[in-house]
Amino acid sequence: MRELIDKLATEHALSKEEWMRIIESRQEEAYLRERATAFQKEYYGNKVYTRGLIEFSNYCKNNCLYCGIRRDNRQVERYRLTKDDILDCCRQGYALDFRTFVLQGGEDSYFTDERIVDIILSMKKEYPDCAITLSLGEKDKASYQRFFDAGADRYLLRHETANAEHYRKLHPAQMPFERRMQCLWDLKEIGYQVGCGFMVGSPCQTRETLAEDMLFLTKLQPAMVGIGPFVPHHETPFAKESQGTVEQTLHMLSLIRLTLPKVLLPSTTALGTIDPKGREMGILAGGNVVMPNLSPTTVRKQYELYDNKICTGDEAAECRMCLARRMESIGYEIVTDRGDSQMDGYKTKGNQPE
Ligand code: 5AD
Ligand code: FES
Repeated sequence: MRELIDKLATEHALSKEEWMRIIESRQEEAYLRERATAFQKEYYGNKVYTRGLIEFSNYCKNNCLYCGIRRDNRQVERYRLTKDDILDCCRQGYALDFRTFVLQGGEDSYFTDERIVDIILSMKKEYPDCAITLSLGEKDKASYQRFFDAGADRYLLRHETANAEHYRKLHPAQMPFERRMQCLWDLKEIGYQVGCGFMVGSPCQTRETLAEDMLFLTKLQPAMVGIGPFVPHHETPFAKESQGTVEQTLHMLSLIRLTLPKVLLPSTTALGTIDPKGREMGILAGGNVVMPNLSPTTVRKQYELYDNKICTGDEAAECRMCLARRMESIGYEIVTDRGDSQMDGYKTKGNQPE
């Protein structure tokens, strides 16, 4: 197993069979961690980037089987923030030193391209020194282009799984796998710093689908990869499925760090939800980003993608401070600057396969 870890650390790529072996093995966890954090230290020192997360709408026209804000969940109270609410979040965030904001929401048709562009322009006008990340789901290439032209810098769209058959088990028929893939390549071609990612331990996931996820990462070369454990939500068809484990998530985080040494790799809220020290462990496994919640405290509980989500407290600035303390406790320091990806040529166009 050591040889395989060494091979990955030098070549940053493996064959599918090798991926399946390394994904399954737990023989050399300490060594894997060591090699992964060596890259993290080399490129980022003890710095952990922060992005202020603004969850601006929990309306969603989609019906992903795993997600707590899916259309068919009639139990969740829906909300959407106004442009002024969003700018207020930015104002508070800016005062807390955030220089990058992530606008995340369900696929809400109220937010037309015009409204999104208007929000981006206002944010850019008031906070020209800040980076804007969008996480709004699947759109046409023309819409992605308009948002980019308005000033959006980055786009997060988890691919969820790179295996078409697995994808179909997680999503309704109205959400074809091909469209998700097309969106990611479109975003890359436009010039966004792109983030993809997947849940660890999602229903029907196997070491083979995970191997395909890793092969997809080597092909897409994203600037950011968001992964976290699958956590069941009681109002979804997956309510009774088992949740992903901390151990498997940490293993995958380290493997991603070895595959894409300079990638921005968040230690996610979902990981912090299944273990009180989850986010600290995620950083120690190779992660280098945390995304404190900046949403108004009045709506935080409503953006419940999975059960028992943390960071829904009633103190607006709490997450920022809490994470600073947590990172310090493990010898890391949070930085609030834009923290652009250090990926070589992230702005170059992807090599989209036919
Ligand atoms: N458990 C963990 N992560 C989830 N997400 C959605 N539902 C869940 C869940 N039940 C993740 C998806 C999505 C991101 C915004 O949140 O990967 O892309
Ligand atoms: Fe949100 Fe600790 S990071 S409460």
